[in-house]
Amino acid sequence: MPISNASKDVSNDQVTARERTGRSATEWSARLPVPDTHLVDTRIYTDPDIFREEVEKIWHKTWLPICHESELPEPLDFRTSGLAGDVPIVIVRGRDGTIRTFLNVCPHRGNMIVRKAKGNLGTAEPSGNADHMTCMFHGWQFDATGRCVEIPREKAGYQDRLCKANMRLREIRTEIAFGGFVWVNLDDQTESITDYMGGIFDYMQEELNTEALDVFHYQKVTIPTNYKYFHETGREFYHDFLHYHNRQTGMMQKGYFDRKYVPYKNGHCLIGLTVSEYKAYKGYADRGLTFPGMPKNGWKGVGLFPGITFNLRSSCLRVNFMTPISENKVMIEVRGLGLKSDSEEMRQRRIRDFNTIWGPFGRNAHEDFLAIQTQAAAVRPGSGAKYCVMAREENDTTHDEIGLRCYYSEWSRRMGRLASDPTRRTA
Ligand code: FES
Ligand SMILES: [Fe+2]
Repeated sequence: MPISNASKDVSNDQVTARERTGRSATEWSARLPVPDTHLVDTRIYTDPDIFREEVEKIWHKTWLPICHESELPEPLDFRTSGLAGDVPIVIVRGRDGTIRTFLNVCPHRGNMIVRKAKGNLGTAEPSGNADHMTCMFHGWQFDATGRCVEIPREKAGYQDRLCKANMRLREIRTEIAFGGFVWVNLDDQTESITDYMGGIFDYMQEELNTEALDVFHYQKVTIPTNYKYFHETGREFYHDFLHYHNRQTGMMQKGYFDRKYVPYKNGHCLIGLTVSEYKAYKGYADRGLTFPGMPKNGWKGVGLFPGITFNLRSSCLRVNFMTPISENKVMIEVRGLGLKSDSEEMRQRRIRDFNTIWGPFGRNAHEDFLAIQTQAAAVRPGSGAKYCVMAREENDTTHDEIGLRCYYSEWSRRMGRLASDPTRRTA
């Protein structure tokens, strides 16, 4: 994305004179002297029309993880879920072991086939194991490959005009990849998942793919905020000031400011390896377990456009998926994973490690959840800040905001709008 000269509504000379006062309304809404790439207009967090466009242009055209293969271990296991835009889906492991995903919509008259009582999004109620999926409305049945296998009084009603073969389910592109996650893409025409990732998972190849992984933790939280606020917390570590845990085990330790960010194509971002000093937090200890290839107490991450993070802290992999619900509501699913070969004692060790930082009484995750709620509460149409500033440049290291800029470069490309001024079309 081209970097243009910023407007000079507020010059650095003037800033000195104004230091003793707040800003007037005009000044508050003025552009800061930074390039387009270094700030975003807050309407992209609050405008419902922009949100609807994001669902169509981004969320329905990108590869998204929907669960882990270990959550469907047996043939004919199924679970329900949903995608942005309130799209109901059902994920099924066939008799052949293949995991497939379908729209959870009956091709007859559009009833939800596997019924969800509490909305389309999130885990997996109902889930289970079944030979067929039956639509309750008129009794049509479908098997785990999406074939329609039963239409009551088929010949009597449709003669030779329609038959079961016409009435298969809509199958959604599904891949099992990068540590056994189930990835889906609603768009049949877009690039392969390999091309979409652009090699970023080479960085975690050994950790994710040497041994089978297993989910030991699941948390779902719905937060009144814009989804991008949450993803941003996984792409910049300047906000380590928020987390006592991160300050003690990271920021105050040698080497903390050397960590590197590497932007990848398609808006993805690699977060470099660092080593945490867990013993610096009173009562904590070194993490005895790791993943294959991961150094003791090591920490590395991958941020994926449009809202996924793989966060590997030595003994625990934390993977966050998001499903946006509206411009001011997001459902976040957090999974913790270890190795399938773990003994029960090792599993408990990983769960303890996970909980010290990311569990309900840990010292990190809920702090992010609070921050992104208060961001959304303050940035309201017509009253909040006009811009969010992403202008830190520190040679692509720990407190640099290159990860945010690479995200919004991709956002602008896909939306055909500048994130710094969404009224300006780029395509
Ligand atoms: S709507 Fe599903 S069987 Fe009629
Ligand atoms: Fe955080």
